[in-house]
Amino acid sequence: MAEESKGTIGILTGGGDCPGLNAVIRAVVRRADMLGYRVLGVKNGWQGMLKELAEPLTLREVSGILPRGGTIIGTSRTNPLKKEEDKNKVKENMKKMGIDYLIAVGGEDTLGVARFLAAEGLRVVGVPKTIDNDVEGTDQTFGFDTAVSIVTEAIDRLHTTAESHQRVMVVEVMGRHTGWIATVAGLAGGADCILIPEKAVPIDEVCDIIRNRHARGKLFSIVVVAEGFQLAGADKELVTKSARLDQFGHVQLGGIGEILASEIERRTGFETRVTVLGHIQRGGSPTAFDRVLGTRYGVKAVDLINEGQSGMMVCLRGNKITAIPISDALTKLKLVDPELVETAELFYG
Ligand code: F6P
Repeated sequence: MAEESKGTIGILTGGGDCPGLNAVIRAVVRRADMLGYRVLGVKNGWQGMLKELAEPLTLREVSGILPRGGTIIGTSRTNPLKKEEDKNKVKENMKKMGIDYLIAVGGEDTLGVARFLAAEGLRVVGVPKTIDNDVEGTDQTFGFDTAVSIVTEAIDRLHTTAESHQRVMVVEVMGRHTGWIATVAGLAGGADCILIPEKAVPIDEVCDIIRNRHARGKLFSIVVVAEGFQLAGADKELVTKSARLDQFGHVQLGGIGEILASEIERRTGFETRVTVLGHIQRGGSPTAFDRVLGTRYGVKAVDLINEGQSGMMVCLRGNKITAIPISDALTKLKLVDPELVETAELFYG
């Protein structure tokens, strides 16, 4: 590092963890070191900013973390915008902790806080992260590719047991209110039907797809359902695990797979099983793609700070890493491209 420090960059990871976070942290520390900044790792997302929990991150701390899943600085779903006093505390603590610039790595919730702080005059840059791939303004978030490869492998495995037992296998995957993981992994795994939040489908249509397939002599089927999928018609409802909301107002989704499996079995008479992949989709080592994307995002985030920019989010456009205002990324959720859905539908049944 240069003799004179240009200041301290704080980095925090907020929301659900995802593979590739450590690649971002490593890249930020390495790039900051090259440009003459110190780095402070804020613990457990915004909770660390409220409780003044942070530790210096040097080349030593980030050595060897590139292939590691999770985040070495921890995460939480703490929302500092909920209470007026917390909003002020974050601003005051940033000063108290000696943080001149902040890199907030997270999905729409974390980025929403980053936008607020930047509007208040603090120097903040965002990095989009989520396995759900639902952040607008970037072609891809890191973590998504790893989740897709985990789900694809699970579908491959379910194929062999489905075929042996002539069963219908329902696979419930994450993704919250979008069906990116379901669509891309379903396509990659050759699913016979993919159900996503972007498109409500009646249960009769799902059963017809399976019946037609069985009528062709294919006596097993794979149905991939995103956790946020809702059946069309009278059965339309978002299936949740509990009514409790997290600090950003999100319900805990889960359970649509069970409902679907028992309806399919009841209506078609085909033996049906359900697999809920859950947090397996977020765990473990990132794919090469996510390591590279996380690394490129980390480098760009520090470069933005070095250029004096604030309120910006790094993003991927085509093959290039660039940046957009954080507020542009928060206008809406990025839904699955209908063209991709149409392609997936060509392979149903
Ligand atoms: O946003 C990432 C995600 O994994 C969603 O796909 C899922 O609905 C949610 O987080 C699960 O959250 P938690 O880890 O709090 O159970």
